[in-house]
Amino acid sequence: MQSWIPLVPESASSISSKVDALYFYLSGVTLFFALLISSMLIFFIIRYRRRSPYEIPRPVAGSHKLETLWTIIPFIIAMTMFGWGARLYFEQYKPPENAIEVYVVGKQWMWKLQHATGQREINELHVPVNRKVKLIMTTEDVIHDFFVPAFRTKADVIPGRYTTLWFEATKPGRYHLFCAEYCGMNHSGMTGSVIVMEQREFDNWLSGNTGSTTPATAGQQLYQTLGCASCHGAEGQGGRGPNLIGIFGKPQHLQNAQDLLVDEAYIRESITDPQAKLVAGFGPIMPTFQGQVSEDQLMQLVAFIKSLHGVGETLPTVAGSPSPAARPGASPTRNIR
Ligand code: CUA
Repeated sequence: MQSWIPLVPESASSISSKVDALYFYLSGVTLFFALLISSMLIFFIIRYRRRSPYEIPRPVAGSHKLETLWTIIPFIIAMTMFGWGARLYFEQYKPPENAIEVYVVGKQWMWKLQHATGQREINELHVPVNRKVKLIMTTEDVIHDFFVPAFRTKADVIPGRYTTLWFEATKPGRYHLFCAEYCGMNHSGMTGSVIVMEQREFDNWLSGNTGSTTPATAGQQLYQTLGCASCHGAEGQGGRGPNLIGIFGKPQHLQNAQDLLVDEAYIRESITDPQAKLVAGFGPIMPTFQGQVSEDQLMQLVAFIKSLHGVGETLPTVAGSPSPAARPGASPTRNIR
């Protein structure tokens, strides 16, 4: 699918027309100066050509006025590019709240995706139109890059780290998904589709694909089998290890007297490298789980810990469809005490 401008992919997200506008501005400024400079070059070549073999040109003294002018004008133009670009960048890479969350794991050479409601997909991502979707991404092996040209957005997925990407699709349809980072022999084949559906169709699709456990429920099972409960409590209420209930999205006081906002990356790090950022009041007694849990399992544990809520707290529900917790058959929310 193409837009009316040749070689430009279709514009299908809330951000894509803004990216295009900036892109056309950059191209316009570049084209304008390229034409201006080359035509002046040609004009001066002809106008000031040497007319007789013994001609000596008049010496030219500097002009402060001219130099100031050709410094200030480009400076202002460059700053408009910077300011515009920075504003767009922050809008694009700061994940919104109340987004639908999808977990993404890159792997040579496929994309594995899982919705918060449990549905799994490979090389396909179904999303509803006009809803914010947040991807929490990592990789099992090398660096890949999640790229949807029609949404004008991409982000690297990096081993041992979580990166996030968000978009809001504005048009139903099927859009290319590419890996935009060379990742080995079949990199060029690491493609897929993002399928944008009307909300009702999406709900149908979602309910037609149930039966799979939610990441939070799978994480809860792992929490038991890995023995996390022996220190963090059967319900995550804490014990020899810190309490896990209701910590997500809140500041955690660390042993080094710093406060840290608990996000997916921090939970992940605390599982793979527990000594890195100890919670105040707790000793370095937790063993590392590096190598014992796969990236999928790490994401499930993260989803489980995110789902732990204290009394009086609710999941941020998204308007338009029931939250994962409210769906029948899915029970990641746990109200403790
Ligand atoms: Cu994965 Cu290129």
